[in-house]
Amino acid sequence: MSDTRSLFLEEMGLTRWQLRIQTTKADQEAEPVEANPPLAADAALPPAVTPAPVLPASAFREALSPTLARQAEIARMDWETLEAASRNCSACGLCQMRKQAVPGVGDRHPDWLFIGEGPGAEEDAQGEPFVGQAGKLLDAMLASIGLRRGNRVYIANAVKCRPEGNRTPHPDEMATCRPFLQRQIALLQPRLIVLLGKAAMHSVLGEDRSLASMRQRIWHYEHIPVLVTYHPAYLLRNLPEKIKVWEDLCLARRTMAQQSTTTG
Ligand code: URA
Repeated sequence: MSDTRSLFLEEMGLTRWQLRIQTTKADQEAEPVEANPPLAADAALPPAVTPAPVLPASAFREALSPTLARQAEIARMDWETLEAASRNCSACGLCQMRKQAVPGVGDRHPDWLFIGEGPGAEEDAQGEPFVGQAGKLLDAMLASIGLRRGNRVYIANAVKCRPEGNRTPHPDEMATCRPFLQRQIALLQPRLIVLLGKAAMHSVLGEDRSLASMRQRIWHYEHIPVLVTYHPAYLLRNLPEKIKVWEDLCLARRTMAQQSTTTG
């Protein structure tokens, strides 16, 4: 077979096809001939064209939207790349006021993931979540159910950079930071997530209902059970609500115990 023709057939995916030639007795007695004789038109065949690779639909979407491309890039990151990317992030205005980003802290194979709102002044200065007044109360909350930060516990925030004046992060700031949090959850695979306050509830569950109506129930994020309770900073201002947080922590502990008996 001529080179041009075999290339052409190969491009068409037809290399395994053979021309079936009907033979007569006279043919069989004659000199053997090549099975696929060169075609007269071979010389006129167009040059072989390599088809463009077929891209998955997600690749087209990513090519059209920088936001989706960024999300897809973050969704593939390992821990080191993820932390470096959040430290160097300038995707929203929060980066302008920060001393440093505060990606998160703790055991990277945790049972428990606690998610707060965003770093305050002390966290911004130290680079670790919940190290100020609210953090001391969070440590006490953890201790009340036998937990300690760093030991089967990871602590993160809905946004990684401090909103000025410790204001609540805006929904668009949380949305911009969400791919980092989502990737953290995917890497951590905690057995239970506890959301501290409305901002974390909004960021993870996409919910804007009142926290009071969301607590004391088990929600799910990607099959991981999720509980909602009040933020420690809110508790510092509303001490009588402590009893509700205690109830929520007891439910969290029961849920974790059930998780352990069902998943081993
Ligand atoms: N409040 C939060 O939500 N997160 C922190 O890291 C500190 C205070």
